[in-house]
Amino acid sequence: MAIKKKKTPITKSKKTASKSISSKKTKEIINNFHQLLKRRKTTTNEVEIKDIDRAIDELGGMEAYQHASTIGQSTPRGGDSSHYFVKWLAELGVKKSYVADKEKMSLLEIGALLPDNYHSERSWIETELIDLKSNHPSIKEQDFLQRPLPSKPDDEKDAISSSLVLNFVPTPQERGQFLYRLNSVLKMNGWLFMVLPAPCVVNSRYLTRNHFISILETLGFKLVKEKIGDLQKGSRIAYWLLQKTSKPNKPPIELTKKTVLVDGPKLNNFCILI
Ligand SMILES: C[S@@+](CC[C@H](N)C(=O)[O-])C[C@H]1O[C@@H](n2cnc3c(N)ncnc32)[C@H](O)[C@@H]1O
Repeated sequence: MAIKKKKTPITKSKKTASKSISSKKTKEIINNFHQLLKRRKTTTNEVEIKDIDRAIDELGGMEAYQHASTIGQSTPRGGDSSHYFVKWLAELGVKKSYVADKEKMSLLEIGALLPDNYHSERSWIETELIDLKSNHPSIKEQDFLQRPLPSKPDDEKDAISSSLVLNFVPTPQERGQFLYRLNSVLKMNGWLFMVLPAPCVVNSRYLTRNHFISILETLGFKLVKEKIGDLQKGSRIAYWLLQKTSKPNKPPIELTKKTVLVDGPKLNNFCILI
């Protein structure tokens, strides 16, 4: 009898079977949280909301989710993503010019989780750290979607890091709002470091890499560097360095509607609407 193969969820590696149990468990916890928070955002059924809240509590609440994410960031699991951002800025000569001018780049790290990702670069990077749930005094507890927008140019940032956060935002419309806000918070020519699980752009029926870049370009960003993990080789993270070159433009109709871009089995439903 043919055995039906189980569908691989978006945040789960095909190679988990060969990894340690705790690595598999970590991915399971993160994935379950994403699914529950997404369902909670989209349902209006009170009974279902209670069930979802109970399930979140049973998983250990936001603390358990963040703990699992912290383990995911640890060096044996590949480390945090900040080293790509710093490496790219160094390659572009940005670091050199801040150091030479004895100035500091103002960086907003959204979804910081840990307080010290940029600690080794503190001579030229000044970080403001925010997260929905703070687990350290230097991380401000703040939802980026509710953060007051800069009221004067001095409040705008030279750079923003959004690493594995956009995929946590529950709805396609809110993901779009998140991207608009990134533009509003950045200075002109400011840097945006964006990280997503690679399946969001290589394995979704509603989002391809080109579609994602079109969205970002429409919202005023120019692509500067890119590294997309190869799922076949077990590499599941995608990194982009972008630069703000304008305010958001009016989106063409195809970026405002949920449209199937890729058809086939084993695809996920990750989508962004602007
Ligand atoms: C998977 S962790 C990523 C942590 C870290 N940036 C990394 O790259 O490993 C996602 C983090 O983003 C935070 N987060 C999600 N949505 C957010 C929002 N709207 N505003 C601020 N933080 C958010 C979560 O609380 C969580 O700590």
